[in-house]
Amino acid sequence: MHRSDHTDDPRGDEAGELERARGLLRRADRVLVLTGAGVSVASGMPTFRGEEGLWKDHRPEELATPGAFARDPRTVWEWYGWRREKARECAPNAAHRWLARWCLADAGVELVTQNVDDLHGRALEGEAEPGGEAAEALDRARPVELHGNLFRARCTGCGWRGELRSRVDASSAASLPRCRECRELLRPDVVWFGESLDAGILERAAAAADRAGACLVVGTSAAVQPAASLATRAARGGAALVEVNPEATPLTRAAHVALRADAARAVPALLRPLVGGEP
Ligand code: OAD
Repeated sequence: MHRSDHTDDPRGDEAGELERARGLLRRADRVLVLTGAGVSVASGMPTFRGEEGLWKDHRPEELATPGAFARDPRTVWEWYGWRREKARECAPNAAHRWLARWCLADAGVELVTQNVDDLHGRALEGEAEPGGEAAEALDRARPVELHGNLFRARCTGCGWRGELRSRVDASSAASLPRCRECRELLRPDVVWFGESLDAGILERAAAAADRAGACLVVGTSAAVQPAASLATRAARGGAALVEVNPEATPLTRAAHVALRADAARAVPALLRPLVGGEP
């Protein structure tokens, strides 16, 4: 029985809990890591829910739905432009860096994120060594981005998808980014409310959940499906569940170890002995 005696006690023996969590991760051949907005808090990115969350002052239906984009693409691009610049100003924190190192070092670790801020990707680029074999490890270690990426766009006309790194000018409808092929409007390549996740991406994430012997969940309220169900799916299949979050979530009761801590502090402490070295 792995269940923590301390899951509801933030004063629990932290070193002991860390060691227990590490043991569970070490014993598993395959690990699913599921992250949410909380992993980027120490980098300066806001979360969605809670007092300081983006959905406190912004209405998702006016900014993050296909209907909102059809009605007012300029306002939607203005908001995504703001989020892109915010993410660009932020740097990956120690949690992103240690997770990147772990994914590069261990082919059994699969990182699935709900975040669109690109910080996992940037951490990975930062940790990878240039060169032949490393390029393969880098490709394998790339995060599965369930909700898309702020720095990608797709065409509302021909369906082209790709990177969009340059600054978006949302000062007028005429200046919005357009497809090079068909000249139709580009939209952010992120999943909006009312839209389905990309089937191939969801399939990859579900397969990772099914083969996981342990699941490390970091910084998500577990309020959004189907993302949150990946952790319960892994647990139902026998995976040990480790959660890192300063608050309790719907997953906490099922967690074998719940570390009530900031991700940028707890993830390095957890992974340093598993991965070794310093990023
Ligand atoms: P939420 O804003 O719902 O939850 C953030 C979680 O991070 C909460 O559980 C916090 O307790 C936790 N947290 C806060 N600070 C933390 C820290 N320093 N270290 C670790 N955890 C911390 O964000 P998500 O769960 O990621 O979807 O939200 C899921 C989805 O809802 C997002 O991907 C987005 C949103 O609507 C789309 O845009 C499609």
